[in-house]
Amino acid sequence: MPQPIKKAVIPVAGLGTRFLPATKAVPKEMMNIVDRPMLQFIVDEALEAGIEHICFVTGRNKQVIEDYFDTAFELEATLEARGASKKKILDEVRAQTPRAGSMTFTRQQAPLGLGHAVWCARDVVGDEPFAVLLPDMLMSGETGCLKQMMDVYEATGGNIVSVEECLPEEADKYGIVSIATREDTHFEITGMVEKPEKGTAPSNFFLNGRYILDNSVMQKLTTQEPGAGGEIQLTDSMLALMGDQSFYGVPFAGETYDCGNKMGFVTANIKMALKDTDIGDGVRALIASVN
Ligand code: G1P
Repeated sequence: MPQPIKKAVIPVAGLGTRFLPATKAVPKEMMNIVDRPMLQFIVDEALEAGIEHICFVTGRNKQVIEDYFDTAFELEATLEARGASKKKILDEVRAQTPRAGSMTFTRQQAPLGLGHAVWCARDVVGDEPFAVLLPDMLMSGETGCLKQMMDVYEATGGNIVSVEECLPEEADKYGIVSIATREDTHFEITGMVEKPEKGTAPSNFFLNGRYILDNSVMQKLTTQEPGAGGEIQLTDSMLALMGDQSFYGVPFAGETYDCGNKMGFVTANIKMALKDTDIGDGVRALIASVN
């Protein structure tokens, strides 16, 4: 059995410039999908996969994330005083509060790239293998993406990344992997490149924001030189590990919404609203009536 994955890193230091002016005051990760912040979906996905401790790598003006995951005493007392009519929502609010001591917040003091953000969590992660979840990518499936990856990890060990196919003309926006033999649920990865020049991508499979990584990637990150976009890239440190360790790609069975851009964010809102038991039918009727 490979060593269990108990810790996850969620980098939330990004400035969210694509969502200005909203992100002047609200971290993009706290923007709503129907009735909850995007970040709640990511945390739920991590917990479903068996994660016991989450390290958020934050930045300036992100304090509201910490408050969100704290007990809201006044709110709960008020809901409680209102009795039966507020019982359901009170239970939901309480269920969303994490187990005491199960979250850590550390800061990335300068925007030096995803690799650097992950490296900022090294002391919290310690010497265990760990997961990384990028909060822009909202994954919706019967089984969560990280859980699907964990199921493969239990059989293969090593490093696991989630992948999916993109349009060839969009490959330069992502980390792209080279693939070898394909099994039912996963395939072996033989290389990867961050934001390849147009027309040079080794495949259409891109890294869609979920990783299970051996701890030695932290050592690689310690000395990682800046790569694409002048940033310290996680992809480059994974590539550096590839000579010594196995990497597997797991194509995610479900839908991914890239909430890092407006179209993906609005799509996620519409799709999640359609699935909502309270408003789904109303939203369906609304869409049908729009011409
Ligand atoms: C990051 C990763 C990239 C991955 C992408 C998914 O890029 O570096 O490999 O494909 O997330 O969203 P970023 O979106 O931060 O430029």
